[in-house]
Amino acid sequence: MRAHIAVLPGDGIGPEVTAAAVAVLREVLAHGGHVVEFSEHAIGGIAIDTTGEPLPQATIDGCLGADAVLLGAVGGPKWSDPQATVRPEQGLLGLRAKLGVYANLRPLRVHPRLAALSPLKAENLVGVDLVFVRELTGGAYFGRKSREGDVAIDECRYSEGEVERVVKRACELARARRGKLTSVDKANVLETSRLWRATTTRVVAEQEGITLEHQLVDSMAMLLLTRPSAYDVIVTENLFGDILTDEAAALAGSLGVSPSASLGDGPRGLYEPIHGSAPDIAGQGVANPIGAILSAAMLLRHSLNLADEADAVEAAVDDVLAHAELTRDLGGRASTTEVTDAVVARLAALRKAAA
Ligand code: NAD
Ligand code: IPM
Ligand code: MN
Repeated sequence: MRAHIAVLPGDGIGPEVTAAAVAVLREVLAHGGHVVEFSEHAIGGIAIDTTGEPLPQATIDGCLGADAVLLGAVGGPKWSDPQATVRPEQGLLGLRAKLGVYANLRPLRVHPRLAALSPLKAENLVGVDLVFVRELTGGAYFGRKSREGDVAIDECRYSEGEVERVVKRACELARARRGKLTSVDKANVLETSRLWRATTTRVVAEQEGITLEHQLVDSMAMLLLTRPSAYDVIVTENLFGDILTDEAAALAGSLGVSPSASLGDGPRGLYEPIHGSAPDIAGQGVANPIGAILSAAMLLRHSLNLADEADAVEAAVDDVLAHAELTRDLGGRASTTEVTDAVVARLAALRKAAA
């Protein structure tokens, strides 16, 4: 197979964790005899510094010409002045819109060794295996923004079509899992949520084999902590999904281990760990690369159709989480490269064991 992957390292720890993911991808693809070309492009703060724009046209072209996009993170204190008119995060939102990746998959499993690091009791984490499907190209993130005197306005809008397509994607995923879909909204207060609930109910009624439950977002925030193993697929709008997935990631022991895949209608996807640029640890070589490496596994599965290779990367990561020295966020002393090397070594060892 031949493929082209666009790599957007971005800011802070972004370059450190994308280098790790690329090292793992190179290992697994070269072994399978696949010819994969990587091209690097600027996004976020670094792109503002070099071109004046958070999403230069050359980056958009590079991504549109690729089979998949791997992104680190954008943002940092240097570009966080509330008065600034150009911001790194605009680059990321612009890219999601340009690529049309409206469904953001954020899986959550809790590795047994990390359960002790979770703020929840380990016994409450047994059997946690869920996937968030976060709507990614609508809602308050993309509505009109304005200032009128001392008043600020963020418009939140959703069309039925935008809800329908992401809910259908969530149904497909649920059907391949345990068939249980939880839709999260704030239908007791928001008009967009009432549209969301009515559309979800209609779409799911047209699908075979899916059980649907609705939850209000405030209650869902609580339920994630009290009975996380009760959920399978959770679909929700952009802002609620952003907040709930960081909460969920903390259950897994660290924000550093959670991956994501952002998908549209075609095979091309955008893959990024859910964490940010972590300015507090950037440049120290201690960032946890696991979220980025697991995002690369999702890239193999969803954009390159290499499910066996994706499984192999996930198995190697599981093994490293179980046995190896881990990064500081997980209570260890290993560097980013030591963990990455351990994953690459496990990939080779597991392959040998299977042969
Ligand atoms: P953050 O996710 O960058 O960091 C939160 C905390 O988690 C920090 O203490 C950080 O050190 C830790 N952390 C995050 N990833 C880690 C990793 N891989 N290994 C070890 N520790 C890790 O969130 P923040 O500090 O609120 O945001 C910093 C900047 O990142 C902001 O500019 C924000 O807009 C941006 N951001 C970008 C993305 C993205 O590009 N997808 C996502 C979230 C935040
Ligand atoms: C994420 C991030 C982004 C978001 C920011 C950086 C725009 O928090 O990917 O979760 O809010 O979507
Ligand atoms: Mn977020």
